[in-house]
Amino acid sequence: MILPVILAGGSGTRLWPLSRALYPKQLISLVDRHTMLQNTILRLDGLDGAQHPMVICNDEYRFMVAEQLRQIDIRADSIILEPVGRNTAPALAVAAIRALEKGDDPVLLILPADHHIQFTDRFQHILKAGVEHALAGRLITFGIIPQKPETGYGYIKMGAPLPSTTSDPSCVTIAAFVEKPDHETAKRYVASKDYCWNSGMFMFKASRVLEEMQAFVPDMVAACRLAITAGKSDLDFFRLDEAAFSACPSDSIDYAVMEKTDNGAMLPMAAGWNDLGSWEALWQVGEKDEQDNVVKGDVVLQDVGDSYLHAESRLLAAVGLKDHIVVETSDAVMISPRDRVQDVKGLVDRLKSGN
Ligand code: GDD
Ligand code: MG
Repeated sequence: MILPVILAGGSGTRLWPLSRALYPKQLISLVDRHTMLQNTILRLDGLDGAQHPMVICNDEYRFMVAEQLRQIDIRADSIILEPVGRNTAPALAVAAIRALEKGDDPVLLILPADHHIQFTDRFQHILKAGVEHALAGRLITFGIIPQKPETGYGYIKMGAPLPSTTSDPSCVTIAAFVEKPDHETAKRYVASKDYCWNSGMFMFKASRVLEEMQAFVPDMVAACRLAITAGKSDLDFFRLDEAAFSACPSDSIDYAVMEKTDNGAMLPMAAGWNDLGSWEALWQVGEKDEQDNVVKGDVVLQDVGDSYLHAESRLLAAVGLKDHIVVETSDAVMISPRDRVQDVKGLVDRLKSGN
């Protein structure tokens, strides 16, 4: 039995002006007509043993999330509402505790709601290969062959292969897990070919991850238990108690557990993964026209090449551009060379602070 747990809580700033605090990346459609959240769930269609998903998000997103599930005709196991963001580790602790409360000990499949995966069949095939190792008590992560020394990812040093009853891709132990190394370290890791990127997707038994969290972050587990005991069911939603959850320490699963555990294992995942962390990534995965432009909305171009142009509310017309990103929304327009899109985050920070 696999219980998909969808993390839909973050509010990315790198896809500004389209993603906003109140309208984050996972709730908008970027690559096709479905939103990222919808695609995350639809991608599981046909996966053997997968139950209805549990979705965990901020209270502010509850109506958008419920409506987006309704649009694709998916009934959630539950939608858990966080009164405040406490990063991914508490969200996972809550999912594990709630799953165990029902009397089962399912394999949790943790999926960030904002990733793009090109090859669904391969993706599902690799997930199936993970179940055996998760049932054996491993904390599985899915590794991506790194292409560049990206500092925004976790790095996994591959250890020894684990025995398996199938001939599926070989699952290896994790010799080291380093979350978000500095640039020099990341460069060394990529050159060594001993490391993969952590995709941020995980698979483990609910009881196992909770045991590990109990050992490494007992205060967090205690705060999450309290937030559930004092929480309330409200129609399809489960609302965590605000005072208890606000008092919970904030940390990511990567720092809180994956860097510390001796029971981690990694399955390589070659399924066209991309976490769509920037406008450049959207250009890369998008469908290109003859001039290698990716165009969304009402856009007219003349002598434009290798660019991403996105119009939300008006006609966007451009001439003589190359390697650029232009994103138009009703209240903001963002223009950047393609190789400067990482700086959008700094721009948004400046806008927020008013300088
Ligand atoms: N429910 C909930 N609550 N979800 C959250 C919260 C929260 O407080 N914070 C983040 N999330 C969701 C985000 O929406 C995203 O889908 C996922 O959890 C991961 O959070 P990010 O904030 O995007 O993490 P990251 O990108 O810095 O790093 C993670 O992902 C990388 C790959 O994309 C790590 O797992 C890295 O190791 C990994 O390489
Ligand atoms: Mg991310």
